[in-house]
Amino acid sequence: MENTDLFEPFDRLVEIEILGRKVSVPENNTLLRCFQYLSMESISYGEFCWNGDCLNCQVWIQNGDKEKALMSCRAVVEEGMKIVRMNEEIQITSNPDESSNAVGQS
Ligand code: FES
Repeated sequence: MENTDLFEPFDRLVEIEILGRKVSVPENNTLLRCFQYLSMESISYGEFCWNGDCLNCQVWIQNGDKEKALMSCRAVVEEGMKIVRMNEEIQITSNPDESSNAVGQS
């Protein structure tokens, strides 16, 4: 896969849910990198500072019966995370379909 040097080293993919869709993304990486993994172009060219200043990467995850805001450029992905809302700057344009992203990464 191209661009693997963008990502922190990972041995496996973990499953998370983005707006109700299950996707597989590389463990050990920030959520924003995981979005980039799913949608390389739109995230790479999006308005993201990648260092905690702009808040364009903000997402809200399910936290019990509440929502919790996270900066996806800072928060490391965890298996089973459920993202229920995202800043509109985050455009995941490729089909986040685990079958197309999980190939060869078991
Ligand atoms: S990308 Fe700017 S705060 Fe996360």
